[in-house]
Amino acid sequence: MKRPFYPVLVALLAACTTTSPSTSPTTVATVAATSLAAPVPAATPIIMARAMVVSAHPEATRIGVEILQRGGNAYDAAVAVQFALAVALPVAGNIGGGGFLLYRGTDGAEGALDFRETAPAAATRDMYLDAAGNVVPDLSTLGHRAAGVPGTVAGMWELHQKLGKLPWKDVVEPAVQLAMQGLKLTEKEAAGLNRTRPDFVRFNPSSAYLKTDGGSWQAGETIYHPQLARTLEYIRDQGRDGFYTGPTAKLIVAEMQRGQGLITQADLAGYRPQWRKPLHGHYRGYEVLTFPPPSSGGVALLQMLQMLEPYNLAAAGWHSPQATHWITEAERRVYADRATYLGDPDFGRVPVAQLLAPTYNQQRMASTLPHRATPSAQVAAGTGLPAYESDQTTHYNIVDAQGNAVSCTTTLNGAYGSKVVVAGAGFILNNEMDDFSSKAGTPNAYGLVGGVANAIAPGKRMLSSMTPTILTKGNKLALVVGTPGGSTIITSVLQGILNVVDYGQNAQQAVAAPRLHHQWLPDQLDVEVGALLPAAQDSLRAWGYQLSPRNAWGRMEIIRVLPSGQLEGGADPRGDDAAAGY
Ligand code: DON
Repeated sequence: MKRPFYPVLVALLAACTTTSPSTSPTTVATVAATSLAAPVPAATPIIMARAMVVSAHPEATRIGVEILQRGGNAYDAAVAVQFALAVALPVAGNIGGGGFLLYRGTDGAEGALDFRETAPAAATRDMYLDAAGNVVPDLSTLGHRAAGVPGTVAGMWELHQKLGKLPWKDVVEPAVQLAMQGLKLTEKEAAGLNRTRPDFVRFNPSSAYLKTDGGSWQAGETIYHPQLARTLEYIRDQGRDGFYTGPTAKLIVAEMQRGQGLITQADLAGYRPQWRKPLHGHYRGYEVLTFPPPSSGGVALLQMLQMLEPYNLAAAGWHSPQATHWITEAERRVYADRATYLGDPDFGRVPVAQLLAPTYNQQRMASTLPHRATPSAQVAAGTGLPAYESDQTTHYNIVDAQGNAVSCTTTLNGAYGSKVVVAGAGFILNNEMDDFSSKAGTPNAYGLVGGVANAIAPGKRMLSSMTPTILTKGNKLALVVGTPGGSTIITSVLQGILNVVDYGQNAQQAVAAPRLHHQWLPDQLDVEVGALLPAAQDSLRAWGYQLSPRNAWGRMEIIRVLPSGQLEGGADPRGDDAAAGY
């Protein structure tokens, strides 16, 4: 839906970095490798000759590989994996959410399919504020009002119509079977469902996600999804109509009425996925293909890669204080831009070309000092750009035997989304509305701030950080990467790429290696256990960094094409993720 541009005031635009110019990257880039670099743990990747699927659940990976072995292409396998995850991985896999799918065909054709949720027609800018203008806690994250109009089924239908090879029924059927036959819960899934029990009870006194005897789930126990199986049968038999009209749509609307949600039959029938033009960038001889707005991820990733290319990260050493400093300074600047300029491009102009101009990004890094953190309070969004005018996730990678590649991140937003299970239909609705900026400058669940560009409006897509990405070299497929993790997605994908390209890590090392994260605000560097040596932490503190230890985040998946043409898979050990192929 196109809207006229609105005039806008960008709150942070006037300020700029105020630190003095630094030495040029080339002078500081030659620092000798430092003993403060962290050791990268050994990790063995899966290697396959022809085709590979990496996803967050072994059953979804198995189904994807079976579709490929039956002659399906990467796009057929993507549809099958998406629906399988909706059954096997309720924490994030979904039909009640949305996502972004990036593909590159073996012939070089490419596309970015946006099946992001939209705000219902009845949504308003201030819908999560009380009469005093304060954000009402939980309203955008829990319950019926937190849900945006789901995009997943329309997205999968669109993908299959354009690029699928096997019949639609054949690629949906494995998920139907999975839902009927039930699945053994892993330890992590049982713990996740038990943790979420009070919210499930609050919003849906009975659902497949609650044990009928009121007890706790145990690992190894089988969970069955008869209602979800029925919904998937409608989708199998009627395509997108099996979700957006007919019995499933009726159940969604009834659920909304039960919980004062906003999604109507008209919202559902009117939902359309969008094909967008992938963004292109370069990094150390690789071509980087990534996702455009309404993701902020692709723009931010390409900005950071531009900012970092002049620096010799490899010589500085993996997670050395020097490399960490350069990377963090790039991250904080880019997240400041994100907060001001990024939003749904159908509702206003996002200055993508200006944000990706090399001179702009060089200037942004000019204010970094060699051994001193720039306080985020002194870093605002860059100036001189046209303002935006208007106005628990999972990832899978697939490469088929022909060399077609899919990188897809899909989400309900938080773990188990809004915790609302559509009664009678058996699936969980997203809480994606929280990705909008409920109030300018007030952080969302991921601590992200935003303004006018990401304000709520009917039919608008909320800004995302999802960053499905594909790298090529010499016009040949080289790397497929992506991860969940909210605001950390962008910096995790960056690290996945740096781990392989700059530090020579294999795919499994690159996904398993402990990570770091900075997002401008709050002004802290998140540090996963083992990511920095104690002495490196001391150096960084002395340079002005506030370090914040944090539990593991993200579930990154990588497929790397080896010089031999074989495929190397890395599945994140933080979850139950699995790589397989043939
Ligand atoms: O679109 C986004 O950026 C968020 N809704 C993603 C949420 C997410 O990755 C949660 N997973 N851990």
